[in-house]
Amino acid sequence: MNLVTIKNMTKRYPIGNSEFTALSNINLEFEKGEFCGIIGPSGSGKTTLLNIIGSLDTPSAGSTVVLGKDIGNLSEKEAAKLRSRHMGFIFQTYNLLPVCTVYENVEFPLLLINMTPNERKKKVISALEWVHLTDKINSRPNQLSGGQAQRVSIARAMVKQPELVLADEPTANLDAENSRNILDAMVNLNKELQTTFIFATHDEKVITYLKRKIFLVDGKVTSDGK
Ligand SMILES: Nc1ncnc2c1ncn2[C@@H]1O[C@H](COP(=O)(O)OP(=O)(O)OP(=O)(O)O)[C@@H](O)[C@H]1O
Ligand SMILES: [Mg+2]
Repeated sequence: MNLVTIKNMTKRYPIGNSEFTALSNINLEFEKGEFCGIIGPSGSGKTTLLNIIGSLDTPSAGSTVVLGKDIGNLSEKEAAKLRSRHMGFIFQTYNLLPVCTVYENVEFPLLLINMTPNERKKKVISALEWVHLTDKINSRPNQLSGGQAQRVSIARAMVKQPELVLADEPTANLDAENSRNILDAMVNLNKELQTTFIFATHDEKVITYLKRKIFLVDGKVTSDGK
């Protein structure tokens, strides 16, 4: 069974009295265990597509079925449940909670699922070890560099070991060494746990790691190197 099946999907945004078509007639399938990326110029629709797969936005037409659920027909509550049980997000803008520490930010997704405080602590520490940030555990986001904040958001996305990780430009603020470390950690998770990764990126470092490259131009898929 596919993890994600997108059929004839279109996304239009209202702009004043007219509409802007951000995605047009998308047809894509993703299987469990893929390590793939959506590549395209700025404004081509990468973030829009990831947000719809992640049930953060809804399509205007066509269907997008993720883990057996049709994203267009989910209530907000059902969508939240799907996200908290099965998905991890790395956003282009980190979306860290500003008043919480690094530890609390990474712990947050675990509070939404059933877990003892001890189990939570182990998972948070090991996620922070992956991204080499255990020394910043009590810092707050405004005390971190851009790359460190990005690594916290990566730890937060991975901490519950979700089936599907959606990563929007995850390496945009990382130096070469941190990018490699993080991509290697993701490749390992992909191998060991069959975690599915879908990236949106134009970073060559990321692109060389991808096993499948989907190119998007002006909201349309122009090639799918499967
Ligand atoms: N809420 C919105 N309302 C109106 N238009 C939008 C909205 N969100 C995105 N768009 C438009 O849809 C298009 C695709 O945007 P999107 O953010 O998906 O691009 P992207 O490929 O992720 O670009 P980047 O590489 O710059 O992040 C853009 O032209 C953008 O202006
Ligand atoms: Mg984007």
